[in-house]
Amino acid sequence: MDRIEFLKKLGGGAAFALTATCLGGCMGASPSPQTENVDMTIDLTDSSYASLQSNGGYVVINNSVVVARTTSGELVAATRTCSHENLKLIRLRNDEWYCSEHGARFSLSGQGLNSDASRGLQIFRIEQTGNELRIYS
Ligand code: FES
Repeated sequence: MDRIEFLKKLGGGAAFALTATCLGGCMGASPSPQTENVDMTIDLTDSSYASLQSNGGYVVINNSVVVARTTSGELVAATRTCSHENLKLIRLRNDEWYCSEHGARFSLSGQGLNSDASRGLQIFRIEQTGNELRIYS
């Protein structure tokens, strides 16, 4: 039995059921936001992280985590993955997490500040012991 014969046997209702799963839901739908399990420690004296010595500076680690120092000197960390379309473009800008693709803006606590950011952003915890910085989920 070929596909057309199969669909004729099932009738129009079944054909609709086979195709209806994407009607009204698949076109243009954004992927679900990803969450990541992270547990890493960095040495702040390592030259790779020199940008963290300046307020407003940030570094990207393994293209998955952004660690930043706010303009007031607080260290913060978030996922690199934007919840809008899962692109790895998050960085710190003006004490907000920002995605350059469509302009999603998130507060430092991960709350969305515009429509492209409505699904929020995964924020990581930070513990500093001397020059060691642990970043974890
Ligand atoms: S992918 Fe980040 S704003 Fe669209």
